[in-house]
Amino acid sequence: MRFLPSKAIIENVQEIIGVVAIAKNLAIGKNGQLPWHCESDLKFFRKLTTGHTVVMGYKTWLSIGKPLKNRLNIVLSRSHILNNQPNLLLMRSKEEVLAIRRYLNCDIFIIGGAKVYSTFSREIQRWFVTEIPLEIENADTFMLENFLEDFDQINTINLQNEVTVRVYERRKPLSEPNLTASL
Ligand SMILES: NC(=O)c1ccc[n+]([C@@H]2O[C@H](COP(=O)([O-])OP(=O)(O)OC[C@H]3O[C@@H](n4cnc5c(N)ncnc54)[C@H](OP(=O)(O)O)[C@@H]3O)[C@@H](O)[C@H]2O)c1
Repeated sequence: MRFLPSKAIIENVQEIIGVVAIAKNLAIGKNGQLPWHCESDLKFFRKLTTGHTVVMGYKTWLSIGKPLKNRLNIVLSRSHILNNQPNLLLMRSKEEVLAIRRYLNCDIFIIGGAKVYSTFSREIQRWFVTEIPLEIENADTFMLENFLEDFDQINTINLQNEVTVRVYERRKPLSEPNLTASL
């Protein structure tokens, strides 16, 4: 089951899509891990990203511990070394990720953590934000308050136990005046 048709499949154009689960106080991480266990969100995440590329920071890679199945896993790190596997690539910069984009026939999901969301903040065209109805004490990793300021909400998906996924799309820039019209 797909939640939204992928433009990569329909139009052969990949999207760069952020996926995050976020607590009421904007917390996303604690002690290198997710601060909750939310089965419905994990299932949603798996369905959404399967068959696509996922990009994660080195700390998120450590917390997951192995490549996610049926996805191309790209891990970003400036200093660490990884043994590449058929579905695991180590990359050193955002530019390296963007450079292979045109060779991929799938969407690119930016799956965290906070540093990597921030790295791709200008490239992300769509966000899937799971709202976890908890306040997390002593969290150490947070989303920026304004990360959705250039986005409009386009869909809502209700998971179990008051967990909601909101889908946001980047607002189209206002069209510029036609400066050549009077020439
Ligand atoms: N709630 C959620 O949806 C969610 C999702 C993902 C992760 N998390 C949580 O978030 C926390 C981790 O987040 P984090 O922000 O501390 O770490 P992170 O983004 O996972 O990883 C940071 C590391 O990634 C590498 N990196 C980041 N940007 C890079 C760039 N532009 N070029 C090259 N390398 C780059 C660097 O590794 P090097 O130092 O090796 O160079 C950097 O130290 C964990 O608690 C995790 O569980 C939550």
